[in-house]
Amino acid sequence: MSILDLTKQTTPIEHLQQFVGQSVCLRGWVANKREGKGIAFIILRDGTGYCQCVVSTDNVSEEILQAAQSTSLESSVEIAGLVLADEKQIGGVEIQVSNLIVVGNSENYPIAKKEHGVEFLMDQRHLWLRSTRQWAIMRVRNTIIFAIHEYFQKEGFVQMDAPLFTNNACEGTSTLFETDFYGEPAYLSQSGQLYGEAMAMAMGKIYTFGPTFRAEKSKTRRHLSEFWMIEPEMAFYDIFKNMDCIEAFLQSVIQKVLTNCKHELETIGRDTSVLESSLKSFPRMTYDQAVRIIKGEENVNGVNSITSLEEELKQTEEKLDVINAEIQDREAKIATPGLKKGEINFHQTKIIQLKQDKADIEEELRNIPQWIASAKNFEYGNDFGGSDETVLTRLFDSPVMVYDWPHEVKAFYLKRNPEDARFARGVDVLAPEGYGEIVGGGERETDVNLLTQKIHEHQLPMEAFEWYLDLRRFGSVPHAGFGLGLERLVTWICKLKHVRESIPFPRMYGRLTP
Ligand code: 4AD
Ligand code: MG
Repeated sequence: MSILDLTKQTTPIEHLQQFVGQSVCLRGWVANKREGKGIAFIILRDGTGYCQCVVSTDNVSEEILQAAQSTSLESSVEIAGLVLADEKQIGGVEIQVSNLIVVGNSENYPIAKKEHGVEFLMDQRHLWLRSTRQWAIMRVRNTIIFAIHEYFQKEGFVQMDAPLFTNNACEGTSTLFETDFYGEPAYLSQSGQLYGEAMAMAMGKIYTFGPTFRAEKSKTRRHLSEFWMIEPEMAFYDIFKNMDCIEAFLQSVIQKVLTNCKHELETIGRDTSVLESSLKSFPRMTYDQAVRIIKGEENVNGVNSITSLEEELKQTEEKLDVINAEIQDREAKIATPGLKKGEINFHQTKIIQLKQDKADIEEELRNIPQWIASAKNFEYGNDFGGSDETVLTRLFDSPVMVYDWPHEVKAFYLKRNPEDARFARGVDVLAPEGYGEIVGGGERETDVNLLTQKIHEHQLPMEAFEWYLDLRRFGSVPHAGFGLGLERLVTWICKLKHVRESIPFPRMYGRLTP
C-alpha cells in the first residue's frame, strides 16, 4: 500500500471500455463486496458508473487482500489494475487489481440493501443520493438542465436572473413566504415573470432559470416549497406562437434525454414509449373542450374518461385478488417443513416484491373512485385540481395543452380573449400518464386600464406594480411567455411517484433537513 497521490491521473469508469488491456487508476466507493478464499470482489462506483474489481492473491500481497476484505459498504478506495474485457460484467469490463488503498472507512452505513421506508431515506438524503436509482435521476436532471439552456441559447434567447426578494405577489397572495428586508416586508419570489417581461422589452426574447418559492401548506405528490422554474418571455408573441414555442422546446429536451440518458432511464425502469410518442405534436384544446372530456361528455379516440376509469377499477380489483393469492401461496410454501434455505430466501424476496406491488394497487383502488367522483362532479368555471388533470391526461400519450381559461381562476396579468371576454389567454401544459401540469403560461395583457382594473380586483397593492404598468406605457407590444417547473418535468420524464425525488434536497411542508 502507498500514500494517496492526488496528482495521479485516474480513468472514469464510464470510459473503461476504451482502456482494455491497459493499466488504470480508479477512485471511488465500495458499492458492494463479496469474498472467497484468497479473493475479494469489489463493485466500485465513482459517480460515472460501476465496475467489478477482482482482488486476488494471484496478483496482490496478503496485506492488500486483507485491506480489500476489510472494506465495507461505502468505504472510499483507490484501485490500480489491469482492464480486462468481460461481457458478463457491468460495463463489459473487469479490473484485475494490482494495488488498493483505503482512503476513508465507512462503518455501519445506514442504508442497507433491504427495503427502507421513504421517510427514512429522505432523512438520509445526503447518503441516499449515492444509490443507483437516485444517481440515475440526478443525471437525468442534469441532462434536462443542460438541454434547456442549449435550446434557448441556440434560439437566440438571453438568459436573465430575476430578483428573489420582491415586494409583489405575482401568483396570488395565498402562497407567499414573507421575510424581513431591512425592516420592510418582502416576499421570496413566486415567479420571475414580471421582471422577465421588462427584460423582454430590452432583449426581444429572454428566459430566467432560478429558484422559486411557494408556501404550500399541504403534502401532495406535486408540490415543493422551493423549486426551480424556467420562464421564457417573448416580445411580439401571441398565445399561439407561445404554444408553438412550448412544444418545440419540450420536444427538444425530451429528445436530448432519450438520446443521452438511455442507461439512466433503463436503471430507473422508465418505459420510454410515451416519451417517444411525445415527439409528435401535442393536442391543443380549449378549457371548454377539456371540461367536456373530463366529465365524459366527449371521448378521446373512442375512449370515455368515466367508463374507462370504471373498467380500470374492476381490473385493479381483480389484480389485487391475484396478488393476494400468490402471497398466500408462497407463505404456505415457506411453512412447509424441509424446505432448503435458498428456496425460502427466494420466496421471501418474491413476497417483499409482491407486497410492494400490493401497496401500489391498494393506492390505485383508493384513488380511482376519487377521480371518478371528481370528474363527474366537476363544476364548469373552476380551475382544474390534481384529480381533474389526472383524469384528462390518462387519456393521452403525449402532453396536452389547454388554453383559454375562465379569467376569474387565472393570474391578473393574462390577456383577455378579444373575441370572448369570459376567457383569459392562459395555457397549461399537462403531462400524460396522470402527471398533470408541468407548464403554465400565456399571452400578457397590454391594456393599462384593464391591467389596473385586474390589480384592483385581485386586491394587490398598486404601488408595487407601477413599474410593471410602465411597460405598457412606453412602447407596449403583444408578448407572451411561460413557466416550466423543472422538478415536475424531471418527475414525469423519470416517471417518479413523487416530486421529492427529482431534486437533490427537497424543501416542502414538513421537510427542511438535511
Ligand atoms: O403555473 P404557475 O404558477 O405559473 C407562473 O408562475 C407563471 N408566472 C409562469 C409564466 O408564465 N412565466 O407555475 C409555473 C409552473 C407550473 O406549471 C409547475 O410546473 C411549477 O411551475 N410549479 C411548481 N412545481 C413544484 N412545486 C410547486 N409548488 C409548484 N408550483 C408551480
Ligand atoms: Mg399554473
